[in-house]
Amino acid sequence: MSAQLKEMPGIRHMIMTDLDEVIVIEQEVFLFPWTLGNFGDSMSSGYHCYVLELAGCIFGYGVMTIGSGEAHMLTLGVAAGWQREGWGEKLLQHFICLAKVHHARSVFLEVRESNLGAARLYERIGFRRVATRTSYYPAMGRREDAIVMELTL
Ligand SMILES: CC(C)(COP(=O)(O)OP(=O)(O)OC[C@H]1O[C@@H](n2cnc3c(N)ncnc32)[C@H](O)[C@@H]1OP(=O)(O)O)[C@@H](O)C(=O)NCCC(=O)NCCS
Repeated sequence: MSAQLKEMPGIRHMIMTDLDEVIVIEQEVFLFPWTLGNFGDSMSSGYHCYVLELAGCIFGYGVMTIGSGEAHMLTLGVAAGWQREGWGEKLLQHFICLAKVHHARSVFLEVRESNLGAARLYERIGFRRVATRTSYYPAMGRREDAIVMELTL
């Protein structure tokens, strides 16, 4: 019997040549997406930038900063066709491990009040709501509150 090697999805560092694929997903899943420049600046600033990849194709990404004992998740996205398969949670757990390795005491993030799916993911992992930033996000013809969430490590 011949052994069949099947490629498995994995998590790896984001590199500059990933950005064209990352921005396509970003524009697909966010109404107010980051720009290529936002991602490029994050990488050149030494932020922790990772992608989900299968067979050379990127299907998710995240960006986190760590400093002064705090980690901040800046963005997290999974391509629409890959959502609800556990990849967002896997990628977030990867960032949480990274925060622990860097001796962060907490991971913080902000989520739109209307983004119930993402908030549910964060609560399932152990994040709790600690504050509200009023009118923090642009929204269609108005502003929307951000819920600040913290995971104590
Ligand atoms: C939020 C996001 C990253 C989650 O990624 P994902 O791979 O779909 O999430 P997972 O499959 O790991 O979900 C794990 C759990 O989170 C919760 N969850 C995730 N998405 C959800 C949704 N749309 N509705 C309800 N619950 C959801 C569920 O409890 C889910 O477990 P279940 O599928 O067994 O019920 C992804 O939906 C996404 O990219 N959304 C658009 C961009 C975005 O909102 N990013 C976060 C900004 S703060």
